[in-house]
Amino acid sequence: MEINKVFVVGAGLMGSGIAQVTAQAGYKVTIRDLNDEILQKAVDSIKWSLEKFESKGKISKEDVEKTIANLSTTTEISDAADADLVIEAVFENLQLKKEVFGELDRVTKPECILATNTSAISITSIAAATQRRDKVAGMHFFSPVPLMRLCEIIKGLETSEETVKVIEEFVRSIGKEPVMVQKDVAGFIANRIGLASTVEAIKLVEAGVATPEDVDKAMRLGFGHPMGPCETADLTGIDVLMHALEAIYNETQNEKYWPPELMRRMVTSNLLGRKTKKGFYDYSSGKQESYWKL
Ligand SMILES: NC(=O)c1ccc[n+]([C@@H]2O[C@H](COP(=O)([O-])OP(=O)(O)OC[C@H]3O[C@@H](n4cnc5c(N)ncnc54)[C@H](O)[C@@H]3O)[C@@H](O)[C@H]2O)c1
Repeated sequence: MEINKVFVVGAGLMGSGIAQVTAQAGYKVTIRDLNDEILQKAVDSIKWSLEKFESKGKISKEDVEKTIANLSTTTEISDAADADLVIEAVFENLQLKKEVFGELDRVTKPECILATNTSAISITSIAAATQRRDKVAGMHFFSPVPLMRLCEIIKGLETSEETVKVIEEFVRSIGKEPVMVQKDVAGFIANRIGLASTVEAIKLVEAGVATPEDVDKAMRLGFGHPMGPCETADLTGIDVLMHALEAIYNETQNEKYWPPELMRRMVTSNLLGRKTKKGFYDYSSGKQESYWKL
């Protein structure tokens, strides 16, 4: 099956990034969100990102214009009628995703593939809202999408090999590297490993073994990670990570994924990281500064 038209549902951080890289690769992309204001913001952020690539000499002015010409926006889900592939990136909420997939199942052509960018919800439970469970799969991109090369492809219980093959080819065609997640397990591959190590890092700070600076330094200098787990947690949002951990814990009942007390207290105190100017570090001066005392 050939993919020509792509429909992205949700024009937030991830949806706009996915739409951008897809349009850059030459596909016609329509982005759907709830109102024109959100859609305009998404288009503006795509333009800003493309211009940044252009100013660094990574793409030409013509590439920018071609990408913008490939993009269109809509508030109507029925505009997905001629799509070959739909990628959903709405809020991380099972009920909402089920409603969206139920609607998509009604309005798209029968051969259209429906993918979800969920980080933590089971693909099988989203697919259950459709009559085409063989054509539903996970496509888990990483933020910021224009820069991060990985896309996890996740099979739901009934996803067909044909669907996986088409998605794998598509992922490569937009310049991303796929990894196959053969079973629909909570956290897939990257978050399953990454979040377990985030919990360990927070527990070390909580127990007074090391400061966030030393935990981060250990992982940067000892393992060559570009960023340590505490600064990464501040960038992602302590609340976002806590919800992701709770989702994996609820599925697995594995205490390894239970958010540590310190993390839960940080969320209660609105110490969420960069977005609230304080988390494991203080960002109020515009720079990342230490303040943690053991
Ligand atoms: N933020 C990340 O780092 C990250 C990484 C990987 C995966 N994800 C997943 O991607 C998805 C989106 O995350 P995000 O960070 O882009 O969220 P976001 O809050 O930035 O964007 C979500 C968008 O969905 C829109 N929306 C809500 N209901 C809708 C509907 N019925 N139809 C169309 N649009 C609708 C909202 O208006 C909003 O613009 C989530 O499932 C999240 O778990 C996020």
